[in-house]
Amino acid sequence: MMSGNLPIKSFEDVDSWETLMFLYNAALKEVGTKIEILNDEFQHIHKYNPIEHVKSRIKKPESIVKKLKKNGYESTIENMVQYVNDIAGIRITCSFTSDIYRIADMIAKQSDLKVLALKDYIKNPKESGYQSYHMLVTVPIFLSDSVVDTAVEIQIRTVAQDFWATLEHKIYYKFEGNAPDYISHELRDCAKIVSQLDQKMLSLNETIKKLEKEMDEDK
Ligand code: GTP
Ligand code: MG
Repeated sequence: MMSGNLPIKSFEDVDSWETLMFLYNAALKEVGTKIEILNDEFQHIHKYNPIEHVKSRIKKPESIVKKLKKNGYESTIENMVQYVNDIAGIRITCSFTSDIYRIADMIAKQSDLKVLALKDYIKNPKESGYQSYHMLVTVPIFLSDSVVDTAVEIQIRTVAQDFWATLEHKIYYKFEGNAPDYISHELRDCAKIVSQLDQKMLSLNETIKKLEKEMDEDK
């Protein structure tokens, strides 16, 4: 006999790993398409792409289990849904910090998305030096017989912030979270340089835009 999964009416009915993964995959597709459309519309109107790159991923089973264990929870489907917010994750990289807030705003305004949490690690960088804008949203997944709101973690950062985060992540793993002091210090220093670079690039871009506008008006 074929063994299928039961119909899903809400998250309470999610009783299997397969069903859970099915929902998170669907959520990634939905949010991915939304972001793509916003970028296309922006290009269409402003002749400019705020987004450089979008990458989505489903958290690996071993990472989900590890995160639950770290926080003292058993590996049950219920606990995964309740305590692991980033099973479905999308990372958006853009050129300028102004783009980050523009994109975040456009996402927050989508009437079918619910914003559950916002973390602005650009205004308030982490102790490590980490800078990014995080949004936890739910997207409705329309199934044959029900609608299930499913959570997606969206990280928005500049290319420079992404460069920093990637290197820091590698170092963190290499030293299992216990990097020598001077390395952590250097990383925090790099984070400051990243922030200065982002500010300088932004203001340079503003200047160029202003000049372009003036040249257009003179025509
Ligand atoms: P996690 O348990 O790490 O998910 O933290 P959290 O639930 O408090 O959420 P938070 O918004 O702090 O971080 C979520 C995600 O942001 C992480 O899974 C990483 O992808 C990224 N992140 C947070 N802090 C750092 C950091 O110091 N360095 C790097 N490279 N990435 C980070
Ligand atoms: Mg995480």
